[in-house]
Amino acid sequence: MLRTVLVTGGAGYIGSHACLALIKAGYDPIILDNFSNSNAVAIQRLRALCQKDIPAIEGDIRDTNLCAKALRDYECDSVIHFAGLKAVGESQTKALEYYDVNLVGSHSLLRAMQDVGVNRIIFSSSATVYGVPKALPLKENHPLAPTNPYGQTKLAVERLLSDVAASEANLKYGILRYFNPVGADSSSRIGEDPRGVPSNLMPFIAQVAVGRREALMVFGNDYDTPDGTGVRDYIHVSDLADAHVKALEKLEDSAESFIVNLGTGKGYSVLDMIEAFASASGQSIPYNISNRRVGDVAVVYSDPSYAEKLLGWKAVRELDDMCRDHWAWQTANPRGYEK
Ligand code: NAD
Ligand code: UFG
Repeated sequence: MLRTVLVTGGAGYIGSHACLALIKAGYDPIILDNFSNSNAVAIQRLRALCQKDIPAIEGDIRDTNLCAKALRDYECDSVIHFAGLKAVGESQTKALEYYDVNLVGSHSLLRAMQDVGVNRIIFSSSATVYGVPKALPLKENHPLAPTNPYGQTKLAVERLLSDVAASEANLKYGILRYFNPVGADSSSRIGEDPRGVPSNLMPFIAQVAVGRREALMVFGNDYDTPDGTGVRDYIHVSDLADAHVKALEKLEDSAESFIVNLGTGKGYSVLDMIEAFASASGQSIPYNISNRRVGDVAVVYSDPSYAEKLLGWKAVRELDDMCRDHWAWQTANPRGYEK
């Protein structure tokens, strides 16, 4: 059984939830993170939640020797690779940095895996690789045409994995294309802690609800959708985390690498999200309508059927659960992991 997993970016939002799911399933995660977008307190909280001393290494995935040392020292037999930069808008002004961390960093990690002889990797990709949907729901075989540097780096890593696996018979990968993760673990001990002004919808709504920000800007109400606002496929981060356990099991069983969507298949508009969050929190969520955000599309949602067929996994938590858990995290930690 694959047991010891190097989790790059394991202190981050999705990585910390995946570590929790891995531990519950009997795996031993080893975290490698440079804390460029996370806080070591998340790891302390994980340890307390699991009553387990999770090893953590502070370092950068672009340091190939450090990655190799971690894989060797802890006798890892697989890797889950979350570490990376993820802000679409920022990627347009810092393209070189995004290629460096996301693509060069993944190359460095793969080199370290090759040096040590570790040949199983799960990679965090994104629905953003599809670009503007030509058909909905999005299936894995939809054409790939990202519209921003962040998406280009995700697609470049997908291709890197495919080429390296073709040249090294032993390497097997699982590419997971996430839709829109929201919510938090039901313990409220770990959750999303964005730095500065949140660029994503749910953390922004939550900060309005808790009184940290005055009002939400709704980016456009003239889309071709039932209420005019953008529609997305929101998925509870704990469902997403559970899928990583299934993906690791699949990678162990199967001789084939795979690419799979992780979403719910349901689309909710911005106004649906405001209403659901207001109801879960009991707070009013003031908002104003502004212009469309450059690069946004009207509707994005997944076809999640391949994930169910391949992994035996499907999202079980509903929108109310996502809002309730996000709100519980926000109220228990109004300033995130800061004291
Ligand atoms: P996050 O920023 O919370 O987590 C990423 C972690 O990687 C952070 O802890 C950060 O400190 C670490 N990191 C960044 N650069 C590093 C480096 N050079 N070396 C070591 N560690 C580094 O983000 P997240 O939301 O948890 O996303 C995890 C992964 O999932 C990312 O690859 C992201 O692109 C992808 N993804 C996220 C979303 C989303 O909406 N959250 C959607 C699709 C895909
Ligand atoms: N929105 C607002 N106001 C805000 C923030 C967002 O109206 O303050 C709207 C957007 O216009 C969009 C929806 O809320 O219609 C969701 O926006 P997010 O920024 O939360 O999410 P995106 O779908 O734009 O992108 C996210 C991640 C990407 C990832 C993608 C996968 O940011 O990294 O999901 O589907 F690739």
